Parts: sequence; C-alpha cells; structure tokens
Amino acid sequence: MSSGLEQIRRHRRLRQIRTVRDLVQECRVEASDLIAPLFLQDGGGRPTPVESMPGVVRHTLETLVEACRELRGLGIPGVALFPATDPALKDPLGREALNPGNLVCRAVRAVRRAVPDLLVFTDVALDPYTSHGHDGILTPDGSDVDNDATVAVLAKMAVLQAAAGCQFVAPSDMMDGRVAVLRRTLDEAGYPGVGILAYAAKFASAFYGPFRDAVGSAAAAGTRALDKRTYQINPANRREAVADALCDEAEGADILMVKPAGPYLDVLHELRGATRLPLAAYQVSGEYAQIQAAARNGWLDLVGAREESLLAIKRAGADFILTYFARDAALFRAESGKKNGVA
Ligand code: PBG
Repeated sequence: MSSGLEQIRRHRRLRQIRTVRDLVQECRVEASDLIAPLFLQDGGGRPTPVESMPGVVRHTLETLVEACRELRGLGIPGVALFPATDPALKDPLGREALNPGNLVCRAVRAVRRAVPDLLVFTDVALDPYTSHGHDGILTPDGSDVDNDATVAVLAKMAVLQAAAGCQFVAPSDMMDGRVAVLRRTLDEAGYPGVGILAYAAKFASAFYGPFRDAVGSAAAAGTRALDKRTYQINPANRREAVADALCDEAEGADILMVKPAGPYLDVLHELRGATRLPLAAYQVSGEYAQIQAAARNGWLDLVGAREESLLAIKRAGADFILTYFARDAALFRAESGKKNGVA
C-alpha cells in the first residue's frame, strides 16, 4: 500500500544526525565575533551593579583592566567603553567630554597599556556628559539638538580619544555629517589609522532604557522618557535607515552598525545587500534585559535564548555583534569546547 509520501522532499534527512546538522549549518557565532560593551565609573570603590542588567556592572579602572584581560583570554577581540559620568561633572554643553583626563581617556590608556592586543572602541556622543541627557548641545531655546555645533564638539572628542589610543571611534549621536567631519579631523590631527565604526542606522528605541540607567543619562529627563526622535530614526522606517547608513559610508565610515539588532533584522539584511562594508549590530541593553528577566522568571531558557538571539543577528547579515552577553557566550564556548552557539 502506498503512503502517498514517496515523492516528497525529505528535509529531515539533513536534521537526523548532529554531524550532518553541523555540516550544513549556515552561520556560526564565535567568541571572535563579539565585542563587549563595558560601563565605567570613577573612584576607588567596588564596581556597582546595573540593576536592570543582571550580571552587568559599572567598572572601576582597576576592575575594567581585569575584565579586559579576561575577555581577551576568552577570545573576545574588543571592548566598547561607556562612562557613567559623575553628575557633578555634567553641564548643558557636556564640557567634560573635552577633558583629556576624563574617565574614558584614562580608561583607554589603561586598557591599551595592560591588554595591547584588545581593540578599544570609544563612544562619540555627548549624552554621558550633558546635564539634560541629550547626545549634543541644545539650540538656544532648548527645543532641539543643534546639529552643526554638536558635530564640532564631537570631532574634538574623537581626536582626544584617538590620542588616548583607541583603534576605533564610534559616533552614536546620529548628527548629520559627523562621519565626514570626524574623518577629516582625525586625518588632520595625525590619526589616519583610527577607524570609524558608524552607528549608521540607529533607531529611536525604547530598548535603550537600561543603558540610560547605567550611564545616568535617563536621570536628566526625570520621570519622562528621553525623547531623541529629532535625531534617531523612526522605528517604522527601513528605507530611510538604509539611505542614512549609505550616507555614512559615502562620508568615510569603515564599518556600519545597525542598532538595536534583534527588532531590526530586516534593516540589517537589506543593508547587507546594499553595501560592501563590514556590518556590525548592537544587541542593546533592553534586548539583553528582556532575555535575562524572562530567564530569571523561569519563562525562558537563558542559554538557548541568548544563543538563538545572537545567531539570528549573524544570519541577518552582521559580521560582528556588540552584546552584553559577550563574556558569558565566550565562557560557554570555552567551557563546552563548542565551536558554534548551538547548545
Ligand atoms: C547614546 C547611546 C545609547 C546607547 C549607546 N549610545 C542610548 C541612547 O541613544 O540614548 C544604547 C545602548 C544600549 O541600550 O545598550 N549615545
């Protein structure tokens, strides 16, 4: 008797045996694909936990260096540094950003000295330094961020970070024209080798909430959510995001980044087809927090959800990923001897 199934295509053939599944796996996430974002705070004391991001702390310079050594040992190629600036040092112009002895510049020097083969990406934006929490200087009536005045400050900030020794500056501000000005200013200042990782398609996202707690930029807005919609991209707009990203390429960016990552895989995928530059994706604080929170409630398997979320970002087209899971994911690979992220 025929079952009626003789002619069907048996997809399950390639899924029967672990070895075959591994052989036909289309993408993998290795420790070498992951960049760890790290938060910094000043002062001796102990690192302080970020409440909304279990497992994440604001490092002191001392623990930062230890963490960087460990990450490098685990095969992580680089870190992205974000300062939680002492509120007493914040002002409406974000002047502390231009202090060559500020926390980030000191941290870059310390990390480069202690772990010379770890890449250091520095954030170019004013929000950790402004009393109002915006990424730039406000217009005289305070209603908006002044694009061109902000870009002029960002360029100086990038040169200070390059002088401190970072290999990449990463403008996360979303001002227009900043990549061109950063490139020209870095070249003129004698840093033609310092690269630009452009936050090329950065959306006005609710998923940045825990990050704003971590660096203290949320406090400025009080109980209101900080509204960055006059510079970050509308979450509804894919075409606009791709156009903006390609503009960063034309201005001289070395690597383009999409942020957040998980909710914007379509943007990542389309940008992959539109550029030949390397692509990064930032799995942001809220993406991390939601997986951690669900796992803590026993509602999701932490390792499974973490690994799947990272694989999806690579599959969509990212060459590498900024993720708060970097250390745990690298540790998992080191301990299990697994080459890819599938548990
Ligand atoms: C701001 C900046 C933000 C993040 C990185 N740089 C937040 C914002 O735009 O308010 C968010 C990263 C994260 O959520 O993990 N320049």
